[in-house]
Amino acid sequence: MNKIGSKGLFSGIIVSLAMIASARAQSVVIPVETKDNALVLEVGNDRVLNMVYFGGRLGNKDEYKNIGGLNNFSGTIGSYNNAYTTAGTSNLVEPAIQVTHADGNKSLDLKYVNHTVTKISDDVSLLSINLKDPVYNFEVTLNYKTYYDENVTEQWSVIKNREKKSVVLNKYASANLCLQGSEYWLKHYHGDWAQEMKPEEERLSNGIKTIDSKLGTRADLFQPPTFMLSLGKSATEESGEVMYGNLEWSGNFRLDFEVDPSNHLRLIAGINNYASDYVLKAGGDLETPKFVYTLSDKGKGEATHNFHNWARKYKIADGEGPRLTLLNNWESTYFDFNEDKLASLLKDTKKLGVDLFLLDDGWFGNKYPRNGDHAGLGDWQENKAKLPHDIGYLVKEANMNGVKFGIWVEPEMVNPKSELYEKHPDWVVKQPQRPEIYMRNQLVLDLTNPAVQDFVFGVVDGLFTKNPDLAYIKWDCNSVIFNANSAYEKNQSNFYTDYVFGLYKVLDRLRSKYPKVPMMLCSGGGGRVDYGALHYFTEYWPSDDTDPLERIFIQWENSYFYPALTSSNHVTDWGKQPIKFRVDVAMMGKLGFDIVVGKLKPNELAFCQAAVNTYKQFSEAIWHGDQYHLQDPRENDIASVIYVDQAKSSAIMFNYLVNWRVGTESNAPIRLKGLDPEKKYRVEEVNVMPGSRSTIKPSTYSGKFLMTVGVNPDVKSWRPSVLIAVKELK
Ligand code: GLA
Repeated sequence: MNKIGSKGLFSGIIVSLAMIASARAQSVVIPVETKDNALVLEVGNDRVLNMVYFGGRLGNKDEYKNIGGLNNFSGTIGSYNNAYTTAGTSNLVEPAIQVTHADGNKSLDLKYVNHTVTKISDDVSLLSINLKDPVYNFEVTLNYKTYYDENVTEQWSVIKNREKKSVVLNKYASANLCLQGSEYWLKHYHGDWAQEMKPEEERLSNGIKTIDSKLGTRADLFQPPTFMLSLGKSATEESGEVMYGNLEWSGNFRLDFEVDPSNHLRLIAGINNYASDYVLKAGGDLETPKFVYTLSDKGKGEATHNFHNWARKYKIADGEGPRLTLLNNWESTYFDFNEDKLASLLKDTKKLGVDLFLLDDGWFGNKYPRNGDHAGLGDWQENKAKLPHDIGYLVKEANMNGVKFGIWVEPEMVNPKSELYEKHPDWVVKQPQRPEIYMRNQLVLDLTNPAVQDFVFGVVDGLFTKNPDLAYIKWDCNSVIFNANSAYEKNQSNFYTDYVFGLYKVLDRLRSKYPKVPMMLCSGGGGRVDYGALHYFTEYWPSDDTDPLERIFIQWENSYFYPALTSSNHVTDWGKQPIKFRVDVAMMGKLGFDIVVGKLKPNELAFCQAAVNTYKQFSEAIWHGDQYHLQDPRENDIASVIYVDQAKSSAIMFNYLVNWRVGTESNAPIRLKGLDPEKKYRVEEVNVMPGSRSTIKPSTYSGKFLMTVGVNPDVKSWRPSVLIAVKELK
């Protein structure tokens, strides 16, 4: 039996895991536990590491050794449940890793060497399992970082080339799981610009179902690396076993789901190996992105809370902090503004009562002024005609008006009509012998090149250095990568992967210098929403589609995985709904406005001002509370959701008519969730238009009543959105 190592990767208390002698001789059993779950790994007689279980935690650790023997994980061609399936030796199923060694040989075998557990805090532990090829000097460490209370695990591998020359990684996944269920129902997403996060749920059958992206930058424009997987029947909000997963990677990804002949599910998640054979130098390590997942046996609601709690506490930039409400000028001015116009927008920001004014695209470029989307991108100097006094002057003006100032950038991109392109044609991703292909008239800068990394860092750092009071960044990314080719990379097949590493290097530098500043992850909509990117950003832009009816659906699906404080929702002029409906929908996340305040009628302005105040009153529940999906817009005429603060003393319920057929209205009460049954709550409608009266009589109920009988929001075609405040009576 191998000795268990005692050296961890991180400082902290290092404990050796108990090796639990199995009934089957010579096996090492490694349970990876969280509060409610356990993932069990087992080393077989052949010293291959297998995964034998992912399910409820057992009270007695000794019993995990009995699980493996109860399953049949193999068939005529070998076993299906390797914890990191190799290629070219005994495995004939889809591999997690595939290598071409320095001598050209394409076989890999990984044997268990040892493992360590590092306790990072009371809540967080890191299990690292070292594997080695018996023939080649090639090693892999599998890492499982567990967040005990949140029931969340992050899994990734570190691939180590200890051969004398470079090896080529033909595939290098982050995680390879083996799951068990009577059936497997996969809910995944697809879409396009302005139609993000369209769900589809299907029962998986034998064969491989792949969700992937080859788009390069805004990689999840049409499929995000996010899914939920029911083990057994399709889970409901409160019942069923369901796993949520997300690859923390803002580039090409690949998720393979394979029901194998033994009816287990093989799940392989990682960077997409499409056009991405990775050349790893002798002595080099490749750390793959983290694959994060949670498991709930009480349906989707619990899995949502697990992800939200974990993300706020550990992943999202300033996840437990506050957020800024704002007025953005994109849809009110587009590229057409000057200092006078901005001065009046600053006044409007104050009038509305929001915290910050956000200056969007169009403020830069002189030789090629940014007066449209065809020129100027890359030339980050204030346009002298529009802004003779520079950004610093605007920041000061904003502060004098009692509001903060934020700014839009898209530093990874360039218009061919720009000084940057003229000066540095070799910084641009393109095929040297082919015509350039544009998306929104622009090209992508080559972030594999350290000089480009410095430039991109410098764009944002320069803004902050010159304007220390700058309070917010909207970071856009409007093009995918066509013609993937780098003038810098020696190995073109490293490009897609190194691009994202380059982006993260820049963001790491920015975050270590500016840890708290709010930054919105834009990407022309939800083209880059994943937990890899959200580590650096405080919020994201779910879609350019701000029609509130559409937003109910887009925000709904995102909200299973991402907490509300990350969802930037702006009130705009999209859609046919009245201002109240638009504001109500935007209040379900991080509230912003992008309208011409001067065009609001007096009662509309008064409504918006009051709504900003109401939002502030309930922001604790919306930002840091628990979200409960009460009625799914895809299954009901009325969509309904509630946010309850951690103290269970304040909650806000949002209700919308989503089916506009004649006669659809709320005919029955909707049961609330998450309250304290023993407490008494005052229930009343809020966000009522000035001049109209609520049809709901303010009343007092017990939490028990509200969760057992419910509240009828009285949604009707003439009251299509209704917000109900629930406040503890003390
Ligand atoms: C993208 C964003 C918009 C806006 C424009 C500016 O489309 O999604 O919100 O910032 O760019 O060009």
